[in-house]
Amino acid sequence: MNFQVKIIHGPNLNLLGQREKSIYGDTQFEDYLQQLKAEFPQCDIDYFQSNSEGDIVSYIQNINPEKSGIIINPAAFTHTSIAVRDALLAVKIPCVEVHLSDIYQREKFRHHSYIKDICICSVFGQGMKGYAIALTRLTELLESFNS
Ligand code: DQA
Repeated sequence: MNFQVKIIHGPNLNLLGQREKSIYGDTQFEDYLQQLKAEFPQCDIDYFQSNSEGDIVSYIQNINPEKSGIIINPAAFTHTSIAVRDALLAVKIPCVEVHLSDIYQREKFRHHSYIKDICICSVFGQGMKGYAIALTRLTELLESFNS
């Protein structure tokens, strides 16, 4: 059985490719996702985006933990959501945090992440490439659990 990887995106990330291109680039995530799936054939990758905090919490709660990993870019909820943090803690599925931009070089209110300390690692400031880095880290860990 392949690893089950859930990529979760928070608010406004449905606008990638249109939104603040100088910060987030001009690629739509759905286009990049095809590339990512081809690069990681050992992973079944599902993508979920929501602008609603409650929907993200419910999605996390419903993930089957078997051979699973999460890659999450909670977007603005990174800096506000104890609920997303608690959901990740509740399911105990290994998780990598990703941000397209370097949140530590931006406004002060972006410097705090509510999930950083509960993730295996955080990848930021690498643009879309950050998701491939995150998948590499996640699959290494899942392989070590399942060998
Ligand atoms: C972001 C950074 C957040 O501060 C911001 O609210 C986003 C995107 C990033 O990917 O760089 O929406 O998570």
